[in-house]
Amino acid sequence: MLRSRSRLGQQWNSMQHYRFPVVFTSLIIILLIYTFSVSKDEQEPTSLNHKGISLQSLVELNPTVEFRNGTNVISQLPYSPKAVLFLAHGCNGKAANFWDKSPGCPNCVGLPEERLIVLHALARKFAVLAVSSVGRCWTLGDEKVIVKGIIGWWVEKNNLGKVPLVALGASAGGYFVSALANDVKFSSIVVMIAEGVFERMDVPKNYPPTLFVHMPKDRRRMRLIGENMEALRQKGVDVAEVKCMEFPLTPYLLSDRIPGIDDAISFELVELLHKEGFVDENGFMRKDGRATRWKEALKERINVSLDKNKLDHIQEELNLAFAYHEMTSLQNEEIFNWFESHMK
Ligand SMILES: *[C@@H]1O[C@H](CO)[C@@H](O)[C@H](O)[C@H]1NC(C)=O
Ligand SMILES: *[C@@H]1O[C@H](CO)[C@@H](O)[C@H](O)[C@H]1NC(C)=O
Repeated sequence: MLRSRSRLGQQWNSMQHYRFPVVFTSLIIILLIYTFSVSKDEQEPTSLNHKGISLQSLVELNPTVEFRNGTNVISQLPYSPKAVLFLAHGCNGKAANFWDKSPGCPNCVGLPEERLIVLHALARKFAVLAVSSVGRCWTLGDEKVIVKGIIGWWVEKNNLGKVPLVALGASAGGYFVSALANDVKFSSIVVMIAEGVFERMDVPKNYPPTLFVHMPKDRRRMRLIGENMEALRQKGVDVAEVKCMEFPLTPYLLSDRIPGIDDAISFELVELLHKEGFVDENGFMRKDGRATRWKEALKERINVSLDKNKLDHIQEELNLAFAYHEMTSLQNEEIFNWFESHMK
């Protein structure tokens, strides 16, 4: 009895001994899990956040504006560029959408997604060149010849003939880039929210590696992209896709991504969109920003002073959250990794 008691005591003692490390280890594990989940929570807003603020500490938007062959050519060189990125906007777009308004570019618009693409590009040492289409949209005839000429002139002028040339086009700009890639030697391209115009051209074997960045909510386009990817693959062209999904509006989405929109305005606008039923119970946009009469609703109800020049910027973010058809910089990592992994 005694013996077993003392043995029990011993066991108890040794359990006490074990207990401390066990409790300690569990505490550490709990702490680790907690830290991870917290830092994960914190990561998401920052990856969405910043209006490029973290990037702006590395680079400043400070473009050169030129006029050539009847159109605007806007560009910026980072220190020691390792590649050149040609950007093609969509219908109704223009080169000036890619840079913030500044003394050097008083007509610049700085749409949130466009400027974040440029900031990201410059931070990764890509020289950036954007050209405005002459009409509302790009045309696939003479305009290709003109733009090819502008790219060649600009590359030579800046002594960048030895670094790789890549291109990104969104929507109609995606059609344009897909066609231009037949005439201009790009090391790789990104075709955003567009299927390209491959059925209208003879795709050569050495056509550049092509990344499709698209929004599957546009099901028809997704199907066409799937068909084109298959056709390109059969020609031996390197292809890949990145799918961009809808996401819920968070109170500070607009202030996080649009310069000149502060937290109070963002909070109030998002709250209003909820109240007016433009957003469902989970925070998702019910319709595309373009199809929603949110501007009218805002005019009547808004209690914050809102810069009218920011309406397009807000609409772009609402479209992005709806994820049907919009320029997106949320996939910058994938996009620039694609460019960088196809430089030779
Ligand atoms: C573009 O402008 C330059 C300089 O004025 C000219 O030499 C060139 O031929 C033009 N290119 C086209 C395609 O018109
Ligand atoms: C609107 O602004 C006025 C004046 O700043 C304020 O008194 C009022 O409470 C605000 N209303 C709402 C709904 O926020």
